[in-house]
Amino acid sequence: MSDKFTKAMARNIFYGGSLFFILLFIGLTVDTSSALPKRDHRENITPQVAMGKDVWEKNDCIGCHTLLGEGAYYAPELGNVYQRRGGDQGGGAFIKAWIKAQPSKAPGRRQMPQFNLTEEELEALVAFLKWTSEINTADWPPNIEG
Ligand code: HEC
Repeated sequence: MSDKFTKAMARNIFYGGSLFFILLFIGLTVDTSSALPKRDHRENITPQVAMGKDVWEKNDCIGCHTLLGEGAYYAPELGNVYQRRGGDQGGGAFIKAWIKAQPSKAPGRRQMPQFNLTEEELEALVAFLKWTSEINTADWPPNIEG
């Protein structure tokens, strides 16, 4: 082996390294895009779930809450609230009752406004929050209340 670091050697390291990482990047991208559809169970997005997302956006819930870690840090994480509040045994009833009962006016607690949602909108929100709670997020966010 020559004891001199030649231009040719530097070039080979550059091209070899670039090729290696480009192939790695393509491989990981293919892996991610084939894994995601299984994790977000998009086949379960019913018209009601879609309507719930619409209600969520129109009322700017994300302005105070996080959803799967994204959003504002004023109020609790809601991506998992359906499971956290009882899942199929009462999670939906809790969410509806909670939204209808706001503002709590409890002293010293942060307040959530009254949105005057219809029964249909509340049901849709529950369907949307149930759907988000069933996404495989690999336990993200790490703190269940966000
Ligand atoms: C102005 C800020 C604000 C907005 C906007 C807001 N919330 Fe809240 N929300 C709060 C606060 C603050 C709490 C926690 C209050 C407490 O613990 O006393 C809360 C709590 C909740 C809870 C109970 C969480 C738990 O862990 O039990 C649910 C469910 C909820 N909000 C749903 C919604 C939905 C759905 C929307 C949109 C339609 C929304 N919120 C919009 C401030 C907000």
